[in-house]
Amino acid sequence: MMTVLEFQRHKRDKKKLTVVTAYDALFTRIVEQAGIQAILVGDSLGVVVQGKANTLSVTMDDMLYHTKLVAGAAQQALVIGDMPFMSYQASLEDALRNAGRFLQAGAQAIKLEGGAVMADRVAAMTSLGIPVMGHLGMTPQSVHQFGGYKVQGKESDHAQTLLNDAKALEAAGAFAIVLEAIPTELAKTITEQVAIPTIGIGAGPHCDGQVLVLYDLLGLFDDFVPKFVKPYARLKVDVLQALRRYKEEVEDGRFPSEAESYH
Ligand code: KIV
Repeated sequence: MMTVLEFQRHKRDKKKLTVVTAYDALFTRIVEQAGIQAILVGDSLGVVVQGKANTLSVTMDDMLYHTKLVAGAAQQALVIGDMPFMSYQASLEDALRNAGRFLQAGAQAIKLEGGAVMADRVAAMTSLGIPVMGHLGMTPQSVHQFGGYKVQGKESDHAQTLLNDAKALEAAGAFAIVLEAIPTELAKTITEQVAIPTIGIGAGPHCDGQVLVLYDLLGLFDDFVPKFVKPYARLKVDVLQALRRYKEEVEDGRFPSEAESYH
């Protein structure tokens, strides 16, 4: 079973890390068969599973349900639960209690969005035995503050703030940091200046690892495909083709055939 310490060792050993999201037991087993080191039960489920425009309406109950499905099936990968909007922002006490609920649901770590402003949460959680992954850059829970899903850290003062945020998360005890939609050069600088792994998504090739939303990388979700997504399969096309053939064969009497019938 992957631990946060083993996860961190990859950076020291200069071995790249792969992380994907999953939300159910079936995909968790397939992801593990591929040898992926960590599974993020992402609040992206609000968009790809629940069909919402953003992640803001995802609740703790939603997240705990999916975390239980993933953690119940996982045997090797590190399972990280994503703290939903307003489960950690309002108070330190909320943050601690809700983070604890993820570990009770079977996750080994949690992820939260934000930098220096979250340092007190990260320090308190890690001192109580709850490993924390940070998340900087285009943090989707701040979509309205950003005025849309836009690349962050392009201006030098903002880049410096993000570098300071990364250092603050590391100092507070985070075991890794997701860097989302920031310039390659900034991600490289952050990766060089922190000792903990950086996991990029739209942050170029110099991060210590990469993360993608599973349905994006499988080509299942195509409502909105950001520039940083590479679909490694075209499953939506395959699924559509299968369903259309099934319908056709039922309609013209070819399914079920003798092979699928009992006597
Ligand atoms: O919710 C999510 O899936 C995420 C990843 C894209 C990093 O936060």
